Amino acid sequence: MIKVVIFIVTVVITVAMIPLALAATARSMSTKKPRIHFVQDMDNQPKFRAQHSNDLFLDGRAMRPPVAGTVARGNLKEDSHYNLGVVNDAWATTFPAQVRVDMDLLQRGRARFNIYCTPCHGYAGYGDGMVNKRAQEILENSDPAVVKGSTWVQPKSLHEQLISEQPIGQLFNTITNGVRTMSGYAAQIPLADRWAIVAYVKALQKSQDANLNDLPADQRRDLPTIKLFKEPN
Ligand code: HEC
Repeated sequence: MIKVVIFIVTVVITVAMIPLALAATARSMSTKKPRIHFVQDMDNQPKFRAQHSNDLFLDGRAMRPPVAGTVARGNLKEDSHYNLGVVNDAWATTFPAQVRVDMDLLQRGRARFNIYCTPCHGYAGYGDGMVNKRAQEILENSDPAVVKGSTWVQPKSLHEQLISEQPIGQLFNTITNGVRTMSGYAAQIPLADRWAIVAYVKALQKSQDANLNDLPADQRRDLPTIKLFKEPN
């Protein structure tokens, strides 16, 4: 009798260990099979993924090319002034008609500039943002074996004459597509906001390079005691 009990207990313990053994194997080995997925919830559906084949079509492609002669309707970005900052194959020197340059636009531009540009170019645009400070600090203080010949191109000061004299279309293009080591921001900053940043950068440049002649004559009279401005040229 006792032997039967021992036999049954041994069998039960052995069988009880099988799930644990299976779980342990599953956890320690990799497999190409999909996970066991009890509740489907429409997670798996029959469909054709990009670049897969489909025997239904003669060419065997699941992705169908557009029907011959298809013409796009709308969203063609034909307005090169607004979309590219280009007028008659040259950089635009004026804002496009869609952009109304007023205080709201400048405020919007300031907010976007402070988010997207200040990390590198600094709040005042002198190319001295935090990312630049950090990069220079790392390059100066690190072991040459760690730096391994890396270099850092300092973000340009937006007040350099060559840059402040650029037509606004070129500035728009720099923000959109980047320039040399600076990457473009078209994917992150919507079109209208890029124009707002252009307007703000122009104001920022003016703020560091204003001169008494920029003021209307009747307001100049009150100024001589304030030495904030350069003497008129
Ligand atoms: C990740 C850092 C970084 C950010 C963010 C950045 N820039 Fe730059 N920018 C640079 C660097 C670096 C250069 C210099 C590129 C070179 O000379 O190779 C540069 C150059 C420029 C220039 C000079 C272009 C020329 O023709 O020489 C302008 C204008 C400019 N940036 C505007 C902006 C504006 C506006 C923003 C915000 C939308 C911005 N940048 C965001 C790093 C940055």
